[in-house]
Amino acid sequence: MATAELAGKHLVLGMTGGIACYKIAELTRLLTKAGATVQVVMTEAATQFITPVTMQALSGRPVYTNQWDARMPNNMAHIDLSREADAIVIAPASTDFLAKLAHGMADDLLATLCVARDCPLLVVPAMNRQMWQNPATQRNVAQLRADGVEVLGPDSGPQACGEIGDGRMLEAAATYEAIASFFAPKILSGRRVLLTAGPTFEPLDPVRGITNRSSGKMGFALARAAQQAGADVHLVAGPVALETPWGVFREDVQTAGQMHDAVMRSVADADIFIGVAAVVDWRVDHTSEHKIKKAADRALPVFSFVENPDILAAVAKLPHPPFAVGFAAESGDLEVHGEEKRVRKNVPLLIGNLGPLTFGMDDNEVILFEAAGATRLPRADKQTLARALIAEIAKRLPDTSLIR
Ligand code: C5P
Repeated sequence: MATAELAGKHLVLGMTGGIACYKIAELTRLLTKAGATVQVVMTEAATQFITPVTMQALSGRPVYTNQWDARMPNNMAHIDLSREADAIVIAPASTDFLAKLAHGMADDLLATLCVARDCPLLVVPAMNRQMWQNPATQRNVAQLRADGVEVLGPDSGPQACGEIGDGRMLEAAATYEAIASFFAPKILSGRRVLLTAGPTFEPLDPVRGITNRSSGKMGFALARAAQQAGADVHLVAGPVALETPWGVFREDVQTAGQMHDAVMRSVADADIFIGVAAVVDWRVDHTSEHKIKKAADRALPVFSFVENPDILAAVAKLPHPPFAVGFAAESGDLEVHGEEKRVRKNVPLLIGNLGPLTFGMDDNEVILFEAAGATRLPRADKQTLARALIAEIAKRLPDTSLIR
């Protein structure tokens, strides 16, 4: 999660009765850490699962549970609480509460707030699989969608009751991602983005190989930012220990050859290609089938290398290439080498890392190279930078009708 990506957002977090209330403690922490103001409102049933004291401590604000709460000077909590809200998020949303919402009922503070709101409503269902599949629930959810309510999840898997199926609430982190995604401007709506990220691994024998120190963080941050911007995202990842960003399609590969093939299979569908991977430039021409033995009386192994395909250059060379963006990590003279590399790879935009040691770090500083000149972006954490880069890429895209 990026620093303060929800700064200035005011959320009413409505909790209804369900065992998934325990996930809301973590969700509240994630939302407040991202800079959002979280006003918790609980139904009577929710207070049976987790106490308002816990939610007050985590949100840093008094919790409302009762329509007749005397703390509101005008006694209109149902109006006042939603007026400054950018969205109301109901999590967990019980079967009963979804039914209430679908019928516009207003028989407690939270239901009344939802009816009286003038902001978007997001619901995060949480229930047993039979309750979720019940035709009445499905009818209510369809009605809510038709009314413009955003339904996040539910997930599938083991449930608190011991059964397995659809209906469990998204995990706190996934709920956070869905909320952050909801707020991101949809500047890449309808666009398809293909990215490479991480290092590649070129085997020498079944247990050894050559690779580099790329962590994949920048590529994964860009994939996440593109998804949040409304794009359909396909991420081809080398060996990295990172979680797939929410809503992103990920394909794992090991070698440069596999990365090249994966990209070439999918590039015809892409509007934008971003080559973030630190592709290993060479592979050994013959990998040993067996582990190379080490022994005092044996000569040291000697390897001969062949060059790997340049994936970015291959994409740029296609007869109808997507908008292709390259990355460059140079150990010196970035200003000179960046533009020279952009021209050599024949891409409209190349992003140069300032400082060679950004591999694995959480922040970065970059220069954009393009025909019109070079532009420096301020140092930032990789997720903030990824958002800025996606905005820069979106600005430079040709009109959809002219892309391919
Ligand atoms: O030539 P260099 O490795 O510095 O170029 C970096 C850029 O080219 C990055 O965008 C990287 O993903 C891409 N590249 C590639 N295939 C290679 C080498 C680099 O796509 N074999």
